[in-house]
Amino acid sequence: MKPDEVEKVGVVGCGLMGSGIAEVVARTGIGVAFVEVSDDAVASGWKRIEASTGKAVERGKMSAEDQRALIGRVSGGTDIRSLADVDLVIEAATEDQETKIRLFQLLDEIAAPDVVLATNTSSIPIAELAVATNRPDKVIGTHFFNPPPIMKLVEVVRGLPTSDETVEFARGFGERIGKTVVLSKDRAGFIVNWLLMPYLNSAVRMLEEGFATREDIDQAVVLGLAHPMGPLQLLDLIGLDTALYISNVLFDEFKDPLYAPPTLVKRMVTAGYLGRKTGKGFYDYD
Ligand code: CAA
Repeated sequence: MKPDEVEKVGVVGCGLMGSGIAEVVARTGIGVAFVEVSDDAVASGWKRIEASTGKAVERGKMSAEDQRALIGRVSGGTDIRSLADVDLVIEAATEDQETKIRLFQLLDEIAAPDVVLATNTSSIPIAELAVATNRPDKVIGTHFFNPPPIMKLVEVVRGLPTSDETVEFARGFGERIGKTVVLSKDRAGFIVNWLLMPYLNSAVRMLEEGFATREDIDQAVVLGLAHPMGPLQLLDLIGLDTALYISNVLFDEFKDPLYAPPTLVKRMVTAGYLGRKTGKGFYDYD
């Protein structure tokens, strides 16, 4: 199948990333079926899509009519078997290797044999998911950035068994949905997180050591480096649980203290201070 022949995409998981990916795909005029684990999670997924597209309308990025049409192209439910007729699957479930392996085994049974199974993982080896299926050549990473409707990048990640054809398909599909695609090998962190995590963890260590206040650390980066937000604000956006998971994966892979998660991040995750999604992280949110 060619990227411009894709008519319907299955999105597994409709949290922060899955809902954004569903929005981006549906905005291009492609049908989307998303799957979540419970009715409540489906309802939250719809809320995220409605809120994000609502913001786009408010800011003049989309007409109210286009928003209605976009939402009309999306369906959501809890039955993964509803993905039997999709032309591409993008998995954006919880960042947990066992969960993803089980999902890929299931998706391999459900989706037509020629369908590409893509994952939005930010850290799990693509090869681990590929070998869980009978189509390892058709498994690939398509790593979107948070928030997907705004961030322009997709990292396409090639596992050792991924075919050239699948890489070209993923690249073409990424471009079709308006993203700029970069290609990375299948090593922990890919391009962006390999660079990002040591920087974020260093900012937390600065705070832990009383080197500077959270406000000064963030403001220094915003004004001194022209980043849209500072590192502690960005950790709150990404979610501290996700950041901790990625740091651990990088540390496991490279055994370099540069990637070791700071104690404060571990304790904050234990306390449930996960950032924006729980209303409390380095900052408080309403
Ligand atoms: N569709 C289209 N456009 C939308 C939109 C939507 N659904 N929602 C908002 N927008 C537009 C807005 O209209 C606005 O456009 P203008 O600038 O033209 O006005 C723009 O997007 C920004 O929206 P907001 O004003 O609502 O948001 P903001 O200005 O407060 O910026 C932010 C928020 C985009 C998050 C910005 O702070 C930012 O870019 N932060 C850095 C994000 C980042 O680094 N992400 C990567 C995280 S790392 C990661 O994801 C990898 C991983 O694996 C952990």
